[in-house]
Amino acid sequence: SNESTYSKDLLGKTVLISAGPTYEPIDPVRFIGNRSSGKMGYALAEASIRRGAKVHLISGPVALPPPQGANVEYVETAREMQEMLFKHFPSADILIMAAAVSDYTTDSTLAQKKKKDGTEWTLHLKENPDILSALTKSRHPGQTIMGFAAETSLVRKELQDKLRRKGVDLLASNNISEPGSGFGSENNSILLLTHDGSSFEEKSGSKKDLADWLIDRIILLRNRILS
Ligand code: CTP
Ligand code: CA
Repeated sequence: SNESTYSKDLLGKTVLISAGPTYEPIDPVRFIGNRSSGKMGYALAEASIRRGAKVHLISGPVALPPPQGANVEYVETAREMQEMLFKHFPSADILIMAAAVSDYTTDSTLAQKKKKDGTEWTLHLKENPDILSALTKSRHPGQTIMGFAAETSLVRKELQDKLRRKGVDLLASNNISEPGSGFGSENNSILLLTHDGSSFEEKSGSKKDLADWLIDRIILLRNRILS
């Protein structure tokens, strides 16, 4: 649609967005990771640019063109994503953590490709650092932080617990077991927990429309006029 239909309500603001999966190598050709197309995070980057923001997009491996006008940094592992986010976080007004960070990594990555030999391969997995929780602990006043949660069922109490645990202002959740929603699809349905965990709002639509709606919610919260 027409660029001029958007107001430049993020002019002068810096938005830091993470998107896509992270890959944790187990040997030079294989990895473990969480599923993510990166489409929601990229749509949020494009919407922020249209609305006048300076955008730093920290992207895991995805098959999407870089949003025009964004400063894109490509990363692979959760550790690389954490480093890049910490580099840009101090100067960000808004953080949108849309990445699907791999929950696990291995401490025994093989240097050579493992050849199949008909036997089992046992991996030892350890939890990755919680990047979002670490970032929110170092936040400064004036920063607004949105987290994401991809769940197979949306239990409101559990979402409120996750919002508090992560220390975010808003938590956008989607039910990935709903047909036609979530991973890879163009459309999505979001249950947004906002106002410090006290109110829920729901919206379905294209990822582009949802991106503008989510940014509206961030701006409303920043302006403290959210009812
Ligand atoms: N996240 C993160 N670092 C991790 C895991 C998740 O920064 N190691 C971020 C995600 O980018 C998302 C938010 O935390 O914005 C919630 O992610 P989610 O996977 O729902 O939460 P987890 O803490 O990983 O809990 P679980 O997967 O067990 O529900
Ligand atoms: Ca997770």
